[in-house]
Amino acid sequence: METPAAQPKKIVYSGIQPSGTLTIGNYIGALRNFNRFPDDEYQCLYSVVDMHAITVRQDAAALRKRCLDLAAIYIAAGLDPKKNIIYCQSHVSGHAELAWILNCFTYMGELNRMTQFKDKSAKHADNINAGLFTYPVLMAADILLFNTSVVPIGADQKQHLELARDIAQRFNGIYGDVFTVPEGKFGKVGTRVMSLQEPTRKMSKSDPEDTYIALLDPPDVIRRKIKRAVTDSDAEIRFDPANKPGVSNLLSIIAALTDTTVEEAAAELAGQGYGKLKERVTDVVISTLEPLQAEHKRLMADKGYVQGILDENAEIANHMATRMLRKVQRKVGFADRGRK
Ligand code: TYM
Repeated sequence: METPAAQPKKIVYSGIQPSGTLTIGNYIGALRNFNRFPDDEYQCLYSVVDMHAITVRQDAAALRKRCLDLAAIYIAAGLDPKKNIIYCQSHVSGHAELAWILNCFTYMGELNRMTQFKDKSAKHADNINAGLFTYPVLMAADILLFNTSVVPIGADQKQHLELARDIAQRFNGIYGDVFTVPEGKFGKVGTRVMSLQEPTRKMSKSDPEDTYIALLDPPDVIRRKIKRAVTDSDAEIRFDPANKPGVSNLLSIIAALTDTTVEEAAAELAGQGYGKLKERVTDVVISTLEPLQAEHKRLMADKGYVQGILDENAEIANHMATRMLRKVQRKVGFADRGRK
């Protein structure tokens, strides 16, 4: 009997911007879920998306340093660099080349609707550059360049993912099945971790320090920030985001980091005060982050090792990207290249 040909592995793709300190929002909504794809079925690529980061003005030296730092965080969070392709977006020129082509298959009206563009242009009114506007097209290129099936992300990236799907379908409608149409993958809980000070707003690394927990915050800072987190004036521990956003956010953090549900997290603390709730969140966050921080510190003491991973993986990613790019270039009618 003939043995069936091995199924090609499905591609998982995601990226994080090296644009500031990572928060537990990034960790719970995205990074933590990067590890959940068995490697006999999936090939995962995780990118440090430095090209996205310059849509907002950056200090060059600081950005360069944060790229290496983020790669080390990926590894410290448990991503095995031998099994996952961890690389820097700017090392693979195919991202920019495909983004240009996809720009020509994306409508201004679609980009105008992007809520993140609206938010970011309000925040950076002095620098509403074209990159900020076309950023979702670059993100679509990141994903489609690798024939991605699954994209683990937080809720705030859902609209961008849907645009990537629309662009893929539009392109396929014209040229045949060129791109895999990707699916978003969201955690069961914590897809939108909220600010500790304004729990109706998303926790964001670009907000003031006391609104978020940074992945590399030391335990005493974590303790202080959680102690000051906004709750409400009644004293019942119950998951009810509309009426009790602060308490519900803290319950979601516990549930996400302990792999339980918000109901279980609430039941465990029923009848106790907010002091106990905050103690529990603090313990869970610190025990999650301590090993990550220790590993990160160890890796950053050997920057050459981390740089080596990025160099090796850029080559692999480049190879994969070029294959797709050539196919797309041919479809749209770019000039043939000689055989040499
Ligand atoms: P970025 O760098 O803003 O965030 C990285 C990831 O963290 C998630 N996230 C959150 N999840 C839950 N609660 C929060 N408060 C929170 N804040 C951030 C984000 O949803 C994201 O998954 N455009 C992307 C990066 C990107 C990308 C890609 C992602 C570029 N190309 C291709 C996937 C595939 C971004 O700015 O994420």
